[in-house]
Amino acid sequence: MTQAPERKRHNEPAASKAQLFDYRQAANPVRPGLTDPIPYRSWGPELHEQGPTGVLPLDLSAELGVAGPATSPALAAHFIRIEAGEGVRAAAEVTSSLFFVLSGSGVCRVRPADGSSPRDAEIHWQQGDLFVLPAGGTPLLEASSTSVLYWVHDGPLLSYLGVSPSAARFEPTHYSAAWMQAELEELARQPGSVSSNRVSLLLANRDLPSTRTVTHVLWAMFGIVPAGATQAPHRHQSVALDLIINCHPGVYTLVGTELNSDGSIRNPRRIDWQSGGAFITPPGHWHSHVNESGEPAWLLPIQDAGLHTYLRSLDIRFA
Ligand SMILES: [Fe+2]
Repeated sequence: MTQAPERKRHNEPAASKAQLFDYRQAANPVRPGLTDPIPYRSWGPELHEQGPTGVLPLDLSAELGVAGPATSPALAAHFIRIEAGEGVRAAAEVTSSLFFVLSGSGVCRVRPADGSSPRDAEIHWQQGDLFVLPAGGTPLLEASSTSVLYWVHDGPLLSYLGVSPSAARFEPTHYSAAWMQAELEELARQPGSVSSNRVSLLLANRDLPSTRTVTHVLWAMFGIVPAGATQAPHRHQSVALDLIINCHPGVYTLVGTELNSDGSIRNPRRIDWQSGGAFITPPGHWHSHVNESGEPAWLLPIQDAGLHTYLRSLDIRFA
């Protein structure tokens, strides 16, 4: 900080918090202890395989220095385990909530907080389904068979901005497992897909045509990494909170900050996949999925790429 003589400051309360920094000391404040970088982290399925009904946040808020729970600066991911016949409320101030059903079945009920409807919206979910909910109400998730859901929302972004949502930007929207799986199989059968190492569907909403994302903030992809595939590296400025839906041992992601001259990732970290596990891909890091398991593997990355697309800051690049 520059040591300006105090007499040059205005002697009024509104000046008491004002600071001036030398540009070179403040131009990039992303460093440990200041604005902490987003770490590599993974979580295994043992977190949700047993135990009582409850919400299990994948919480890195202390490491990130933000209000919690938070898994990245803008997003919070959780596992929700619900015993058969029980229910849990997914309470958070958000503009977007995304739920993916890893196992089980049940119903989600939510009443619009703005009073636009006196009736609960109901989404009946089964294994493999995905649904998104906008701002308003507190969803009640009731399991008819013991269930595990992956829940991602943008509460940390709202908390950082110091705002409460004032409007729902889309309607509750349900993507059934049967529909997504049939569309993915159809895509895999297309001639161009045989040689492709990326067979994936991007989830979108008719009310959000410009971003082609699952909500105006969240982005979701339902994809297969075929047996034997080694994807060319790519990167983007959105954070990915990756959920592994199903895989056999031998599937992994390589991640790193730089490329070699042949386009491979320099000194990559290897993140091994686990069915029902999750991991973080930090923004701007090159990443490549590799499947040496001999069987196809299914993944569902959730990102804040709806927001980045709107800001024109996604900067997706392929090696
Ligand atoms: Fe990616």
